[in-house]
Amino acid sequence: MRVVASSALPIDLVAQVQAALPGTRVEVPASGHVGFDGVNLTDADALVSLLLDRIDEALLERAPNLRVVANCAVGLDNIDLGAATAAGIAVCNTPDVLTEATAELAFALMLAAARRVGEGERLVRAGAWTGWALDQLLGVGLTGKTLGIVGFGRIGQAMARRATSFGMRVVHADTRDDGAAAGQRGSRDGTAQRVTVDELFALADVVSLHCPLTPSTAGLVDARRLARMKPTGILVNTSRGGCVDEAALAEALRAGRLFAAGLDVYAAEPAIHPGLLASERVVLAPHIGSATTETRTQMAQLCADAVIAVLSGQRPTNLVNDVVIR
Ligand code: DGY
Repeated sequence: MRVVASSALPIDLVAQVQAALPGTRVEVPASGHVGFDGVNLTDADALVSLLLDRIDEALLERAPNLRVVANCAVGLDNIDLGAATAAGIAVCNTPDVLTEATAELAFALMLAAARRVGEGERLVRAGAWTGWALDQLLGVGLTGKTLGIVGFGRIGQAMARRATSFGMRVVHADTRDDGAAAGQRGSRDGTAQRVTVDELFALADVVSLHCPLTPSTAGLVDARRLARMKPTGILVNTSRGGCVDEAALAEALRAGRLFAAGLDVYAAEPAIHPGLLASERVVLAPHIGSATTETRTQMAQLCADAVIAVLSGQRPTNLVNDVVIR
């Protein structure tokens, strides 16, 4: 059997797979991300991929023996799930272990955007800080304000717990059944009230995105929804850049129709819309939501576990598609 990883990993995949499945060839780049382009996948049984790897029909055709793709991410938008399922290939992801790390980063971006931490740091580093002033870098307070969470899954709920302990009120919306949400207005899920996506944009002081990128969430934050937000509003995005119309966001910030944004993800990474780069009010992070040593190690471990399970004929814990494991 043959296992191919597109990137170096913070665990010893070779030792683990060979201990469980002696004789298996395991190929892991010595460092960084190499990808699968130019790699002969004809006899590959398992791939360990990153969100940088497009696992589409064309790639699957190059790998006729493939049995499992272990994606070292919770997001699956880099994978054509339909094509993998049709080919009988198990697809696994890495949920749970990155929940708290990603919520921590989302919370950090919210605080940094509200209190203009990026602007302040640039001022100090530029040697342009002339001293304390009563009206310097005035931000937006968060206590008593409303956080709107779009996508109330594991990470959205972890964000809600943090916000509640900060004295914020939480509302949430589900992008999958927005029509139904209105009928459930006022219903409670823990301490958070469920509203429609449009209601959420009008109600919230901070909107934080925690939904996957799907055809129905692509461009979810568009000019119309941004226009519903308060001029003191803040947008936080740690999900996927494609959920936001970046040109519309840049324009809302430029025009002063939105107070700030905290972004970790972008539509065409690593490129960032010039209007966002130019805006003092955007805190920009380089897609590091899950980037803690503990979390990345656990993510890689889940991939190793998934590969070993499928190649041993067992059902992996984080199987996301409906295939028969042989
Ligand atoms: C994911 O898991 O989808 C993140 O974007 C990277 O950890």
